[in-house]
Amino acid sequence: MVFKAFTRLLKRMYHFLIPDRVIYKKVILPAKYLRYCGRDFHDNEHYLNSALKEADRIIKTIGIDHSSILDVGCGVGRLAIGLLIRNPSIKAYYGVDVSPRAIKWCKKNISPSHSNFNFILMDMKNELYNKEGKGTSPALTFLYGKNLDGIYLYSVFSHMKHEDVISYLQEFKSIIAPTGKIFFTAFLEEHVPDEVENPVNYRMKWTLPLHCVRYNKKYLENILDNSGFKIDRFDYATETDGQSGVYLSLKSS
Ligand SMILES: C[S@@+](CC[C@H](N)C(=O)[O-])C[C@H]1O[C@@H](n2cnc3c(N)ncnc32)[C@H](O)[C@@H]1O
Repeated sequence: MVFKAFTRLLKRMYHFLIPDRVIYKKVILPAKYLRYCGRDFHDNEHYLNSALKEADRIIKTIGIDHSSILDVGCGVGRLAIGLLIRNPSIKAYYGVDVSPRAIKWCKKNISPSHSNFNFILMDMKNELYNKEGKGTSPALTFLYGKNLDGIYLYSVFSHMKHEDVISYLQEFKSIIAPTGKIFFTAFLEEHVPDEVENPVNYRMKWTLPLHCVRYNKKYLENILDNSGFKIDRFDYATETDGQSGVYLSLKSS
């Protein structure tokens, strides 16, 4: 108990003394201790390239000139950083996350110089990222009727049980344009149980709650279908830690 409190205090002091950002090739990046998605992302060159790669994915899939985009689980602004380098004239970018620390970083380091980049904290419970969260469903009503051109979730459904995935998909229908596109990553496999939290002997050792939620591909396809979406493209295990990339649109489009 005392040891835990002491380590927490040390951590706080460390974060207070160490800057929360680095400048690499004239670009503001989050400090390494704030970054998500594994150790590879501690390398500045890798982080910057990954931000540009994600921005290019959005440009290719959705287009960003005059587009509005929602980045669910935006973390410390990796996609936003890439988009800002590629084309700051995007109509509107909305980044939502359950992590107060991540949203604080984005508000401090991105929004002040780019008013079309909005970051919103959602108090939704997640055992890994926001244990104390009160909400049980995504608070996206502020986007109702906005007709978003794109919705993006990188390494977010990979830390979520199916109930939360389904409530997000329901919300997406109220905010996406009929021609809008969705991209997400997830751990998806064939011939495995429908849903397993932290599967043993699968890709790496998962230690934290919701560290890896792996789905049976057909099971998730059914969820998507029942929620009104169709898969336009599926890239197996091309993303971080072996997650797959999934591109969606509305079934009725
Ligand atoms: C592995 S990180 C990925 C961050 C970012 N998408 C990236 O690629 O750099 C997962 C992010 O999802 C966020 N998250 C977890 N549960 C969420 C929820 N229910 N709603 C929104 N964000 C959530 C976490 O706080 C964290 O920032």
